[in-house]
Amino acid sequence: MAKFLVKGGKALEGNISVSGSKNASLPALAASLLFSPPAGGPAFQNLPEIEDIKRMKELLDSVNGGQFDYEIAKKIRASILAVGPALAHFGKTSFPHPGGCVIGARPIDVFLDGWKAMGANISTSDVHSKLLTSDVHNLTIYEVSAPRGLKGCDFIFRVPSVTGTEGLMMTAILAKGQTVLRNAAEEPEIASLADWLNKNGAEIRGAGTHTITIEGRAGKPLSGQVPFFAPPDRIEAGSLAILGAVAAKEMTIKNFPAEELTALLAVLKAAGVEYEIGNGELALKQSRRYVGRAVNIQTKEYPGFATDLQAPYVVFATQAEGASMIHETIFEGRLSYVEDLNKMGARITLCDPHRAIVHGPSNLAGWNLEGPDIRAGLAFLMAALIANGESQIGNIYQIDRGYEKIDERLRKLGAEIKRVE
Ligand code: UD1
Repeated sequence: MAKFLVKGGKALEGNISVSGSKNASLPALAASLLFSPPAGGPAFQNLPEIEDIKRMKELLDSVNGGQFDYEIAKKIRASILAVGPALAHFGKTSFPHPGGCVIGARPIDVFLDGWKAMGANISTSDVHSKLLTSDVHNLTIYEVSAPRGLKGCDFIFRVPSVTGTEGLMMTAILAKGQTVLRNAAEEPEIASLADWLNKNGAEIRGAGTHTITIEGRAGKPLSGQVPFFAPPDRIEAGSLAILGAVAAKEMTIKNFPAEELTALLAVLKAAGVEYEIGNGELALKQSRRYVGRAVNIQTKEYPGFATDLQAPYVVFATQAEGASMIHETIFEGRLSYVEDLNKMGARITLCDPHRAIVHGPSNLAGWNLEGPDIRAGLAFLMAALIANGESQIGNIYQIDRGYEKIDERLRKLGAEIKRVE
């Protein structure tokens, strides 16, 4: 298993450019099932070179008559994004409950309710390990079918799920009649997906707001030729800004989507971080390593403070003066990684599964860590970069899932990171 060996304490300096957005690219790839002809499909540009994108492509290649390869589908939570388009395309689909995940239960009830509202039938069965070749033991398989076709519906989200909104929006494109999605998520990836689909013949209004209306095409696939161009990844951009704030002498982040990171930028400003925004860049300038003020955060749906920036922010908070209250409102179980930061010398009290208090500043020391999930994995890399001494980070597949060649790119800023296979 590949790992990172990190020698911490080096001040970073230079330019880095933000890659294409993972969370915008995954649903766009899934949407290729809505196009005619299915083979060939639309072109994709600026996709990040990351493991989740590779898995999504493998998954889409594996769809046969609506059935997904269970082993591939099980590996990524985002496989659920391809189910709606497959149902719309084939009239039926079967797939396993997606990805075991350390950040919480990750239910799919919202998706199931939406497909039911569009007239689909859903049944489940259990598959045991003897039918499978991997280490997966028990899988719940869902069979979804719409023998009389999908029909438009008026649907209200119990929770404004991001992929749930994307999944049902895509499914509705091939349904018969109009669909209205209420209490929909407002994340910018939803608007960018809808804009691109509209350029290719879809009729979606209101994406990026809480109410989205889709005029269904009654089974007629999209036939446009406008390629998808992945916008910059706001989570990678925000994470790099946080890293720069704690570890850089001088750093410029190019291709920086500042308008999508207003909550983070406001928090960094309140904490005393000095930055300039202009020409699509964020420039951080510091004469010494950052020690600023503690600022409380609460993760929220867009445009609030993104839950995906919570773990990087906790690393930042270990370097701030005072107590920062971190309130994770989106996922339960997304704070358990803080125990490892404490082993490095951080002083973080986990109050309950949703709240932690970070007491700073603390000097972190190198440690042996295992990437627990994609976002906490990156936070560990950041912690290792500011720690004194050497750290080893295992299970870096989790980091490679979401951040393109991050070791190579950070080395160009002077970071001492070695990838050992
Ligand atoms: C997406 C992002 C992920 C981000 C998250 C929240 C992608 C590929 N991933 O994940 O990076 O952390 O949004 O911004 O875009 N929920 C249910 N039932 C469901 C679905 C969700 O109860 O059927 C709950 C979840 O448990 C969670 C909340 O809804 O508490 C929000 O999660 P959701 O927006 O669905 O996250 P994802 O779309 O999976």
